[in-house]
Amino acid sequence: MFPAAPLTVLLSLALTSGLASAAQTVRIASYNLRYDSQPDSITVQQSLDNLPDPLQAPTYYGKKGEQPWSTRRIKVYQNLNNEGIILAGFQEALVRQVTDLATLFGDGWGWVGVGRDDGVAAGEFSPIFYKKSDVQLVSNDSFWLSNTPFEPSKFPGAGSFRICTATSLVLKSGPAAPVHFTYLNTHLDDQSDDQRRLAASMMLVRARYEAYKTGGPVIITGDFNSPATGTDSGAYQIITGQIAPVAVNATFAAKYAVPNATLPDFKVLDLKAETPREYVSGEYATYTGFTAPGDGSVYTRIDFVYGGSNGKWTADAYRVGTSLTDDGVLASDHRPVFADITLH
Ligand SMILES: *[C@@H]1O[C@H](CO)[C@@H](O)[C@H](O)[C@H]1NC(C)=O
Ligand SMILES: *[C@@H]1O[C@H](CO)[C@@H](O)[C@H](O)[C@H]1NC(C)=O
Ligand SMILES: *[C@@H]1O[C@H](CO)[C@@H](O)[C@H](O)[C@H]1NC(C)=O
Repeated sequence: MFPAAPLTVLLSLALTSGLASAAQTVRIASYNLRYDSQPDSITVQQSLDNLPDPLQAPTYYGKKGEQPWSTRRIKVYQNLNNEGIILAGFQEALVRQVTDLATLFGDGWGWVGVGRDDGVAAGEFSPIFYKKSDVQLVSNDSFWLSNTPFEPSKFPGAGSFRICTATSLVLKSGPAAPVHFTYLNTHLDDQSDDQRRLAASMMLVRARYEAYKTGGPVIITGDFNSPATGTDSGAYQIITGQIAPVAVNATFAAKYAVPNATLPDFKVLDLKAETPREYVSGEYATYTGFTAPGDGSVYTRIDFVYGGSNGKWTADAYRVGTSLTDDGVLASDHRPVFADITLH
């Protein structure tokens, strides 16, 4: 059980019983789904119809390695559905995966995002899903983490086109409502550290602008394809303000400039470090590959949840879940990351 669940329950009770509360907790998930590398024509309904008898013990660890999305998708959904999330940022989602999750989450959820290869539906999305009863979408856009941010494009030397999905949202419920906040979701390059540094610098520019414009909280989730320390950690160090950003496209910089002396030292904070340690739980690694459990040679923490240094939020709980079930199926080669964030 997620340690902060009782807190959320208490908060909900407090709200429904009319007690005063100045803030509202948002549970957010970041989950790299692993792209649909073994496509087939099995429908979501067929996957649902073929779910095994839940009272029957599986063949323990009977399955090995990567399974098709049609096998993984119900597990991805189940890994999120019972967690009380109201926001989710995914990575590596091909259009089929986006629409499958939209089907599974149902009409109560909305989503935004575009395929990174053409700005429509080609290539992987970094989509943002939101629960409509709790969150209202004000606006959304996408920009490319390249030298030409406003057109589908690839940074020289990068393995793929890379995109950031940006949303302006309003938290609808709670006595402090409406709380206007910003949520950005992304997936940085796996091959080019220069791309990751540029991307982190661009995200910082955009996040600072949103903090300035809305005065509200800014949340970022992403697969940074690089850890928080070591030789590949430039993106993390830039976005968390430990080293200076690199120069970004001038058109982009001008569009998201803030007046002088506004938020001069803006950066983002790693919510895992901002959460009281007693409420940091679950696993350490967020990437496991499709390897045997406990293969420390591939396990790394490369998926993050951040909050803007302009504040207006409190990190209440942080948990890295698991993608592995007893049948041996890994829902993804990453694990879901959950954060409970109170917005003020
Ligand atoms: C997201 O933004 C695009 C571009 O402005 C817009 O066409 C689309 O309707 C928006 N999505 C939603 C769900 O509002
Ligand atoms: C900056 O980005 C804009 C929009 O994508 C593009 O038109 C322009 O050429 C870029 N500038 C440089 C120097 O690449
Ligand atoms: C910001 O400061 C720089 C350097 O002092 C100055 O050249 C520029 O005009 C200022 N911009 C604004 C919008 O005040």
